[in-house]
Amino acid sequence: MKIAFVGCGYVADMYRQCLDLHSGELELAGVYDRDSERLAAFTKTWGDRAYASLAELLAEPDLGVVVNLTDPENHAPVTRAAIAAGRHVYSEKPLGMTLSEARGLRDAAAKAGVRLAAAPSNILGEQAQTLWRAVREGAVGRVRLVYAELDDGMVHKADYRNWISRSGRRWPAEGEFETGCTFEHAGYVVTLLVAMFGPVRRVTAYASLLIPDKECDQPVHPAPDFSCGLLEFNGGIVARVTNSIVAPYDHRLRIVGDAGVLQVEEPWDFAGPVRLKRTATTRLDRFLERRFPLRKGRVVKAVRPVPFRSGRGRPPMDFLRGVSEFAEAVTAGRPGRMDADLAVHITEVTEMLQHPERYPRPATVSSQGECCGRWIGRSESRRKSHRPWITRRP
Ligand SMILES: NC(=O)c1ccc[n+]([C@@H]2O[C@H](COP(=O)([O-])OP(=O)(O)OC[C@H]3O[C@@H](n4cnc5c(N)ncnc54)[C@H](O)[C@@H]3O)[C@@H](O)[C@H]2O)c1
Repeated sequence: MKIAFVGCGYVADMYRQCLDLHSGELELAGVYDRDSERLAAFTKTWGDRAYASLAELLAEPDLGVVVNLTDPENHAPVTRAAIAAGRHVYSEKPLGMTLSEARGLRDAAAKAGVRLAAAPSNILGEQAQTLWRAVREGAVGRVRLVYAELDDGMVHKADYRNWISRSGRRWPAEGEFETGCTFEHAGYVVTLLVAMFGPVRRVTAYASLLIPDKECDQPVHPAPDFSCGLLEFNGGIVARVTNSIVAPYDHRLRIVGDAGVLQVEEPWDFAGPVRLKRTATTRLDRFLERRFPLRKGRVVKAVRPVPFRSGRGRPPMDFLRGVSEFAEAVTAGRPGRMDADLAVHITEVTEMLQHPERYPRPATVSSQGECCGRWIGRSESRRKSHRPWITRRP
């Protein structure tokens, strides 16, 4: 299927680096960025066709999917323009910066008869599928509690001015600080949790801007750099989700059940191991747990080997897997895994985490019913029999 990128910034290089994983399946017709220097640097690096305008890109014959890789504040106008041109859209996350913006886009797509989906797609990765299978198979018994850390360290003190993408884009620190680490990262774990446990029912959150001075080269208006929220799922499971760019790097996701804990170190690393540690019950086990708290447990057998290697410029996740799944869904006329209803739900929960002042506390999630029609709301027994989504052979 023919696709085209709008936005040729930092993440566009990561998407482009994954294109060879989808040869014969996705064909990049061309790219566009309203910043002509950026567009030129990108097309010089990759040899792709540059469109002169968004209108020219949208008019490309047989274009299957517009991949919106603009910065979060520009997602809505670009997605809206593509929908108005009758194009299917896959958007980077978040779908919108507010629940109402995300809902507006979803409804506009439905009205126009086009399909809409959004990142993150790490739930389609081997690590997430392995984790999900272990949960389904009862590896930790009944799940009670989830701890999800998304602490990124003090990014404003890091040497991010030297974080340069393949085509020369400096990591957009100012934009990241203004969008907020919660909007940037929470979706990576909330999507996994919603896939495994169903829609979020209620959220109780706290967020704060702990370090207003981000020491940037130009003035910025940072969003909260710390948030902590409790997500309640049907069935009583509670997840504590923490986001910050203050506390030291820690991206552990721990799923605690009666019989043990499933743990991953990095929720967007497709090749990362899933570990299982049994609940300490004996005196000796409890002693060992206290004495050696870093013991991580045994590695769970993966659903399949990851069909690529990260490093040497290749990111740890296949950024185009969501686009590929979406293209397949559009072609087959079936619902997509990362469809707009899910993205609306993820956007609402994320907004509640980053901006708790906009909602009552605890906040009832209004979109919980909207995303449960397809794969998410399946009954527990059906979910148990549900196979991992990866069907393609490596
Ligand atoms: N930077 C990362 O590490 C990273 C990782 C994963 C996901 N993301 C997500 O990817 C998206 C893009 O982030 P980024 O880091 O690449 O940002 P970026 O600022 O480097 O790139 C965005 C590009 O979009 C272009 N753009 C903005 N509005 C446009 C418009 N109306 N028409 C055409 N071009 C337009 C900008 O000129 C810019 O080149 C965000 O949603 C972000 O959350 C970023």
